[in-house]
Amino acid sequence: MRSSQPPTNRADRQSPDLIVVGSGLVGLACAYEAALAGALVRVIDRPGAVGAASPVAAGMLAPAGEAWWGEEELLRFGLRAARDYEAFCDRLSADAESEVPYRRCGAIRVALDGDEAAELERLRRYHEQLGAPAPRLVGSECRQLEPGLATIATAGLLFEDEAEIDPRALASCLRTAGQRLGVVFESAAVSGLIVERDRVGGVLADPGPVRSGAVLLATGAWGAAGWSGSSLALPVRPVKGEVLRLAVPAGAEPPCRRIVVTERIYLVARHSGEVVIGATSGERGFETTVSAGAVRELLREAYRTIPEIGELDFIEAAAGLRPCTPDNLPMLGRAGPEGLLVALGHYRNGVLLAPLSGRCLAALLVGRSPPAEITAFDPARFATMVR
Ligand code: GLY
Repeated sequence: MRSSQPPTNRADRQSPDLIVVGSGLVGLACAYEAALAGALVRVIDRPGAVGAASPVAAGMLAPAGEAWWGEEELLRFGLRAARDYEAFCDRLSADAESEVPYRRCGAIRVALDGDEAAELERLRRYHEQLGAPAPRLVGSECRQLEPGLATIATAGLLFEDEAEIDPRALASCLRTAGQRLGVVFESAAVSGLIVERDRVGGVLADPGPVRSGAVLLATGAWGAAGWSGSSLALPVRPVKGEVLRLAVPAGAEPPCRRIVVTERIYLVARHSGEVVIGATSGERGFETTVSAGAVRELLREAYRTIPEIGELDFIEAAAGLRPCTPDNLPMLGRAGPEGLLVALGHYRNGVLLAPLSGRCLAALLVGRSPPAEITAFDPARFATMVR
């Protein structure tokens, strides 16, 4: 429900109803949805944000293609998020007065040798069991759909409903729409929570405390790490992903229309001419350098999959830190002292899950039932972990 107040920066002048710590896509979506529900929201994030996952992400909205054994709850939530995405983009485009570049392009997962073809078949059977069958294609059918594919692609699975979005453009629209709804954005380091009689009273920030009866942590791979006096069990660890950005030269055709996935990489070609190749996966703490080996491997594998990649212009190599929990599922809901909300641990699915997570958390904030089942993502499941 929209507030009847005009969207001035009311949260600047008075204590906000909600402080969101973190301005990645999850934090921005939570802030936007909470503002739509009528809350005065202030978003606080550290300056710089080196290593943040959102600006590096490829923006694959691929719940089925990314589905993994034992993560059925995540698949269910992801499919719901994907189903709602287009309507969310329509609403956000109107609120931001700027088109959100969402494209339901489909995805094709291809095998490049016999072992990969066997793995693809195992995956196909898994999808069938889940009731979300993906048609199997032979090599020539793959190339009919994506003529740029190399002839070593001998089998494929087609995921027709999957989509892509530019995460940087999405973040910009969420920020603009939030500002129009009165959300205040502040660049400051948060060093801890204010807790009084087991209730949240705000956050300790530099240069001074900010008071509010509700705080939502959307701090990505950083969780509540390094906070003074924090005894919260929010076990999030960083998993580095290195990603390349290329550009289709003016006048040339994109190398593929759909998202193309292999066992080692994925390729997302946008209408804008940007082509994203991702991603590595490695755990070396908060280190965010891009290694020469990673660039070589990503380019080599992309070139093996679609040889035309060699004709594109090189734009950028970057690394982001995916926020991962011990069971690979997000943490969504209440945690610790009263008034504390958590939207953390979206791991490989932050872009896909941000809007639905935002709606669920905004519902909890205003005392409504979340629009999707989130019991499996209760942060309390880690409450007994050693801190
Ligand atoms: N969702 C793709 C990735 O995390 O690399």
